[in-house]
This record gives sequence, structure tokens and C-alpha cells, in this order.
Amino acid sequence: MNKTLDLETLASLCKRRGFIFQSSELYGGINGFWDYGPLGCELKRNIKDAWWKAVVRTREDVVGLEASIIMHPAIWKASGHADGFADPMVDCKDCRKRFRADQLCEEQGVELIKTEATFALPDGVQCPACGSKNLTPPRSFNLMFKTFVGPVEDETNVAWLRPETAQAIFAQFSNIVATARQKVPFGVAQMGKSFRNEINPRNYTFRSREFEQMELEFFIRPDEAVELICGHVTQLDDKPDLMGPPQASWGWNVWLHYWIEQRLTWYRAIGLPEADLEQYWQVGDELAHYARACVDIEYAFPFGVQELEGIAARADFDLTQHQTHSGKHMDIFDETLKQAAAKLDDPAREAFTRKVVTDWTRQGKSEEDARAFVAKLFDGKYIPHVIEPSAGTDRLALALLSNAYDEETFTDHKGKTDTRTVMRFHPSIAPIKLGVFPLVKNKPELYGKARDIFAQLQRRWNCFWDESGAIGRRYRRMDEAGTPWCVTVDFQTLDDDTVTLRERDNMQQVRLSLSDLVDKLDAEIG
Ligand code: GAP
Repeated sequence: MNKTLDLETLASLCKRRGFIFQSSELYGGINGFWDYGPLGCELKRNIKDAWWKAVVRTREDVVGLEASIIMHPAIWKASGHADGFADPMVDCKDCRKRFRADQLCEEQGVELIKTEATFALPDGVQCPACGSKNLTPPRSFNLMFKTFVGPVEDETNVAWLRPETAQAIFAQFSNIVATARQKVPFGVAQMGKSFRNEINPRNYTFRSREFEQMELEFFIRPDEAVELICGHVTQLDDKPDLMGPPQASWGWNVWLHYWIEQRLTWYRAIGLPEADLEQYWQVGDELAHYARACVDIEYAFPFGVQELEGIAARADFDLTQHQTHSGKHMDIFDETLKQAAAKLDDPAREAFTRKVVTDWTRQGKSEEDARAFVAKLFDGKYIPHVIEPSAGTDRLALALLSNAYDEETFTDHKGKTDTRTVMRFHPSIAPIKLGVFPLVKNKPELYGKARDIFAQLQRRWNCFWDESGAIGRRYRRMDEAGTPWCVTVDFQTLDDDTVTLRERDNMQQVRLSLSDLVDKLDAEIG
């Protein structure tokens, strides 16, 4: 982490260099909305490409989905968002500012009082803006943005902007199973815009009202099905190799840890230091009632260690909800399970059923449900369980920007002390990979050669042409954009096809042939 960086300094660089602008700045801005400028949109594109490549393209067991943002409102009823996706909100009766009650309490070192249906503020909490203690009691505020479909604005035409991309994956599950030729375990990934009418957008882009998510729903067999097929369920104590190929015998907890490792490995690969990544395991009532476990992957942002991604084991909650609300079956047929069950004799079936009934009733579920579940398993059917790694693209962009920012004081080749701002992005996500400069612009042969080289490299990577100002100034501009390399085309290039390559991080310059340059970039950008 860049220990001394404050958000104002970062935001100022982001604005000056065209990474991030305030949305609608021309009209005074709009709180909680941001625009990505020429460099920022390249950065985000690279993040999303890298995620899609890691999660979908380089795996045989994950497919993609791109669903609409506005969906049938029944989806949000089934998912629980229509009734439960709310934050407690309080208003200051004196200055009329609005706050999230839980954040207010946390900032003032007290606990928000939670009862089953409501919240209350403990004594002494005051308005952080004006100091008044004249605050309303907390009220639930649904975070979904409401709109109307069609010209008539009445309750029958209400729709919601999606607050997460995940639900579309569950709603389209049957279509995907029918078309993708995948068998459980397999995943469906989606990335795209989500909207939450946050009460208090804050920390720059960290908590916005419009943002992008990159979500994976990875469907797995229930542990009981694994046991029938493999005769045992691999647990963490068995020390499975989480970096090796997944195994059929893995239970849900091993899958959860597998995805945690996959995601941490990816964050490190795109440049976030291991020391700045933490895991926070949710406990008690932080956990949704249906979730078996949920871990937040956190990053040490300049304003504190905060969530970058949540990875949750959601059991069969979502598909079951959609089955109940739509009346359409979400079971899948698993031929391997059917064959495994067919090999059991009656006493073995009875023993297995008794074991499941004991487990389920111990967890407070009914015997009747347990027996119905087992009967379906023997027929090769079940509703898949799911592990959900859910990341925020904008939060990751902010983490990468914070991590990249550096101010360096150095001594130049003439012995003079100088400083520079340099964005030390990993080459794979750097918005521009290469700056290409002609040493001078008034020598047609040299200029033409530099244009040819630029055109050749631009076919492979996002390159930036800069012909104005001293070479040193051009380097500085590329340092602030986070461009890992610059090449200068000079008179020697005309003789032997070599260029000067300057490295962003150590400012070293080397002379190399064009083909060696291409090999080097290939190896380092990946
Ligand atoms: N489907 C599960 C889900 O949406 P979440 O923890 O609410 O879980 C997942 O969101 C990720 O989306 C978060 O870890 C964060 O990176 C991002 N995210 C959520 N709310 C956000 C907001 N208001 N602004 C920016 N990113 C947000």
C-alpha cells in the first residue's frame, strides 16, 4: 500500500490525467456517479478483459451471460431484494442531512441497536455535520432504483434497475443448462452495470450509485450427492490441492477455499501486493441467514482496509427461491449420480437416508424435507448449490490506482534532484502499454520510420504517439499515465532497426532491435 497517499491527491491526478471525472461536472456534478476518461476506460477494459480471461476463457467449466439490466420485478421478489435490500437511514432534523445509521454509529464508536424488525440509535449519537442530537429514528430505505416500464407510471408498471448482476444467472439457469453442454460442477459468469441508491456514497468511487460488478455463480453438487458418487466428501482437513485441478469428491467448503485461492492468485497477478490483501470471514448475524460462509477479500485502501470482493457459499438458496416463485423446476439431472445410486442395495439406501435425516434435523430442517431430498437424489436429481465470487470493477480500479500511485525523488544524469509522479501499474492492466516517440519531428525519413514502427506496434498493443516537447517531458507524461515502456526512434534506427527502450519503473534505457522489443513486450504483458 502507498502509506502516504490521500484520496484528494489520487483524485486530482485521476482528473488531471483523464482517469476519472465527476459525472455531469458541467452542471455541478451528481453525487455517487463517475465517468471514466480516456485512460480510465482503458484501465477498466483491461481489468474486465483480465477477469473474463481468467474466469471464463481459460476455463472449460465456466460460460458467460449478458443479461438485461431491467428484469421482471418478480425476480427481485424471489431474490429477497424487493423486501430486504435496505439500509437503515436517519435524518438530522436540524440541518436536514441524511446518513446511514450503521455507519454513523460505527464512526462514533457505538453499536446500532437491532431488534428483529427495526433499528434504534443508542443515546448520544449526533449529526456529524452540525452536531445536533435531534435525529429521526432509523428507517429502512430500499437501495434499488425504481423506474416504470412503458408510458403509464403506476404500480403495475414498476421495475427496478438491477442491484447485482447475479440474479439474472439464476433466472436463466435452466436455459443455460439446456444450451451450454455443461455438467455440474460448472459456473456462469457475468459482468456489467449494477445500481444501488446508496444513502451515503463515499470514499471517491468506492461506494457509488452506479457501478460495475464481475460475478461468478459456480454451481456444485450438494455434499450428499458427492458422497453417493464418491463414497466420501473431501474436506479441508484432507488437505486438498487447491491450486490443482478440481476433484469430484470436493465438498462445498473445499470449493469455497478453491475459489478464494483462485481469486487471490488473480489479484496478485494483476499487481496487488499480497501484504495488502486480507480475508475477513463474516460471523454471526453478518452472515445472510441462508449463507453457509462468506469471506470478504479486502484491500488496504488509502482510507482503510475495505471489501473488494465477497465470496459466499449460498447453498441452493437462490435457485430454490426462483423455483418457488416461478413454479418452474430448477432441478438438474445428474447421470453419474443416478448410476451411483442404482448400485446401492436397500439397506445401504436406508442407511444413507437415515444419515441425511439426522444431519438435516440437527440443522433444524424437517425430516420430511430430508426424505424428499434423498428420494430425488436416488433419481439423480437435485438443485445445485452455489459458490459466488462477486467483485466490483470500480473498486478494483480504485485499488489498482491507489496501489500504482508513487511520487519519487531521484537524481538525474546531470546530478540534479528531481521528482516525478509515476503510476506503477502492472503491464497487463496499464491503460497504455507503450509510448512511441520520434526523436525529432522535422526529419521526414526519421519521422516516417517512427510512424511505421508505431503502426506496427499498435496492431498488438495500445500505444501512444507523442512528438511534442523534450523527450524527458514526454517520459514524465507517460509516467503519470502509468505506461510501462517508451521507445524513441532516432537516427540510428534508420541504420540498424534498433530503438531506445526506456523502462518506467527504473528509468533505465537500453538499445534493442525491434524484434527483441516485440518479444519482450509479449513476455511481460502476457
Ligand atoms: N451478488 C452478491 C453481491 O452483489 P455485494 O457484496 O453486495 O454482493 C459485491 O457486492 C461487490 O460489488 C462488492 O464486493 C463491491 O466490490 C461491489 N459493490 C457493491 N456495492 C458497491 C457500490 N455501492 N459501489 C461500488 N462497488 C460496489
